[in-house]
Amino acid sequence: MQQVQRDSSERYRAAFAAAGLHKEHLIFPVFVSDRQGSISSMPGMSMTSVEKVADYVQAIAGAGISSIIVFGIPKTRDNNGSPAASNDGIVQQAVRAIKSSFGSSMNVTTDVCVCQYNLSGHCGILRKDRVDNDATLEVLAEIAKSHVEAGADIVAPSSMMDGQVRAIKNAIGRKTKILSYSAKHASSLYTPFRSAAFANARLQIDKSPYQVSYANKRQAMMEIETDINEGADMVMIKPALAYLDLVRMAKDKFRFPIAVQNVSGEYAMIKAAAMHGLIDEEEWKVCSIASIRRAGADRIISYFSLDVAKYL
Ligand code: PBG
Ligand code: ZN
Repeated sequence: MQQVQRDSSERYRAAFAAAGLHKEHLIFPVFVSDRQGSISSMPGMSMTSVEKVADYVQAIAGAGISSIIVFGIPKTRDNNGSPAASNDGIVQQAVRAIKSSFGSSMNVTTDVCVCQYNLSGHCGILRKDRVDNDATLEVLAEIAKSHVEAGADIVAPSSMMDGQVRAIKNAIGRKTKILSYSAKHASSLYTPFRSAAFANARLQIDKSPYQVSYANKRQAMMEIETDINEGADMVMIKPALAYLDLVRMAKDKFRFPIAVQNVSGEYAMIKAAAMHGLIDEEEWKVCSIASIRRAGADRIISYFSLDVAKYL
């Protein structure tokens, strides 16, 4: 006889156990800004300041999560995004604060890109309306170096420039690991993130010249292969849910560590539907995270990481 009513938290625990998910697989995103407070495009998420970041991370550690990825939302932007590489930039200061409180007990990854720091919002240096790949590589290398000096354990280039792994590897050496955003698909699912990062406008930027097309699985596999050959320690596929076939394909093909980012739009969709009473939020958080693990992800970056840790 099957018992009809089972406690839902017991079901969620069982789902994660069946998927082989453990707390070590989860990474929680931390937004550091000088404006602290809630992020309206991502209900339930908030940004923190450099002063408060250690307390903020304490709550994450308290939930048993020992990996974070730090995104910076700086006060000022310029043409080339130079605040991104400043030694007293927002990410660099935050990483120093986190590392001085938590040391090796908190694994810190940093997002390496210029789009939160330049005026265009593009992930590269613009020359006459086009992204200049090689000029951007130099800037990415400088940013990564400053993150390493601040104490980052892993740097994660997210700009999708060709040669980003090699350029960063040459600049930082072998000590700090590189998680490359290898197959980052052009997608409107980044819009809630962009509205958090941009106080006004520039939400719908066309990044398709350098991000992967959703229809092209061969391009995704090629990008991953290139980054592995350039020396990446882990590769990433994002968004998550509509791309799980690619996660499995890449896992089988390369047998290499794969991270998946469950992006802001995927978070917002579940939150919005739940707020309208259309779905069971808790169930869908659990289902989606379990399915990402089942597809073959070794690390999952998700805004739900904290919420679901209680079932692990
Ligand atoms: C910056 C960056 C973005 C995301 C991660 N790093 C935004 C973008 O490419 O426009 C998206 C994350 C999310 O939506 O959760 N390069
Ligand atoms: Zn970017």
